[in-house]
Amino acid sequence: MTAVIGYGPVGGEPGEPRIDMKTWIGDWVLPSPVMTASGCSANGKELDAFFDLTRIGAVVTKSVMLAPRSGRATPRMAETPSGMLNSIGLQGPGIESFVENDLPWLRERGVRAVVSIAGGSVEEYGKLAQVLRYCEEISAVEVNISCPNVADRGQVFACDAKLAADVVSNVRRIIPSEIPVIAKLSPDVTDIVGIAYSVVKAGATALSLINTTLGMVIDTETLRPALAGVTGGLSGPAIRPIAVRCVWQVHEALPDIPIIGIGGIGSGLDALQFILAGASAVQVGTMTFNDPSAPQRVHIELARALAERGFGRFTDAIGYAHRPHEEPLSDFVADAWAEDDRAGEGADPARPLSSGAAG
Ligand SMILES: Cc1cc2nc3c(=O)[nH]c(=O)nc-3n(C[C@H](O)[C@H](O)[C@H](O)COP(=O)(O)O)c2cc1C
Repeated sequence: MTAVIGYGPVGGEPGEPRIDMKTWIGDWVLPSPVMTASGCSANGKELDAFFDLTRIGAVVTKSVMLAPRSGRATPRMAETPSGMLNSIGLQGPGIESFVENDLPWLRERGVRAVVSIAGGSVEEYGKLAQVLRYCEEISAVEVNISCPNVADRGQVFACDAKLAADVVSNVRRIIPSEIPVIAKLSPDVTDIVGIAYSVVKAGATALSLINTTLGMVIDTETLRPALAGVTGGLSGPAIRPIAVRCVWQVHEALPDIPIIGIGGIGSGLDALQFILAGASAVQVGTMTFNDPSAPQRVHIELARALAERGFGRFTDAIGYAHRPHEEPLSDFVADAWAEDDRAGEGADPARPLSSGAAG
C-alpha cells in the first residue's frame, strides 16, 4: 500500500493521501493526538532541537509544585526489563519560576502547553490553580494526583476516590471553564473506574491514563534497594498492557469522557492500541529517552497505520475495538456519523460525541 502520511502539521507530504488527525479534549481541538508525557522531556526545551514542537498535539510540562524542590536522594533511576523505575520526587523550580521562565518560552514558539500540577494538599493544588488562572498561554491543566496527601498520613490522592475528587473540584472551580482540566490517574488502585467516575463528577474534562505503577528493584551486589527512595514508579513498554486495560475499562464505563492514553508508547502501533481501546489522544514518555523525536515519529506512524487499516479520520478509530464482533468499519463510522447528525448541524463531522460531551 502507498505510504500515507499524517494530515496537517506533521507529515502530509505533497501527493500523498492524507488522513485527518485532529482530535478533541472537551472543546479544545488539537491538530495531532500525540503529546509528550509529563516529566519525560522537562518543559519542552530539551526536545526543541529534535523536532518542531508545534507539530505535535501538545507538550505536557513536568509536574510543578508551589515551591522549588531538589527531589529525592540518588540513585533515582534503575533499569528494568522493558522499562525503568524512577523516584525523582518531583524536582522542579516551583510555580513562580515556571511561570516566569518556562511558560513564556513555550508561548513564544506557539507550542500548545498542558501544564501539569502536583501538590501535597487540596489547598496547595488550589494555590497552583490560582497562579495559573491568569496565564493566557495555557491550553489545559493536567492534575497529577499521584502524590501523598501530607495532611492525611501520606495517603495518595489518586488512590482515594473522595480525596481525588476534592483536588479536582478545587482546581476546576478556579481554572476558567474554557480550559480543560485533565485528571491523571494512577493504576495502583483496585477499581480505576470508581476513581474515574469520582473525578469526572468533580468536574474533570478528561482523564490521563496512566501514571507510573509502584515497583522496586533490589541490587544483588549491594544487597540493598537499588533506589535511594526504596520504591519507584515503573514506566515504559513493561506497563503498556496495564495502561491499555485501564483505558479499555474506563472508556467502557464512561464512553463520553475523552481519555489520554499513556504507558510505554514508542511506535504508531503502540499508540493505535490505546486509540482502539478508547483513547482520544496519547502521550509519549519513557520512549523519548531512547529517541527524542519519538512523539513526532509516533504521529506519523499512527497516521500511516490508520490509513492502512481504512480509516479516513483519526476520530473514527477511537474505541473501535469495543464494537460488536464483525461489525465492518463502514457501519461503525456510519453509526458515529448518525450520532453527529443527531447532535445538530454545524458540528465538525470529525468530532465524535464521545470526546465533546464533557467539555
Ligand atoms: C523520569 C520520569 C519522570 C516523570 N515525572 C512525572 C511528573 O512530573 N508528573 C507526572 O504526572 N508524571 C510523571 N511521570 C510519569 C509519565 O508522565 C507517564 O505517565 C508514565 O511514565 C507512563 O508513560 P511511559 O511509559 O510512556 O513513560 C514521569 C515518568 C518518568 C519516567
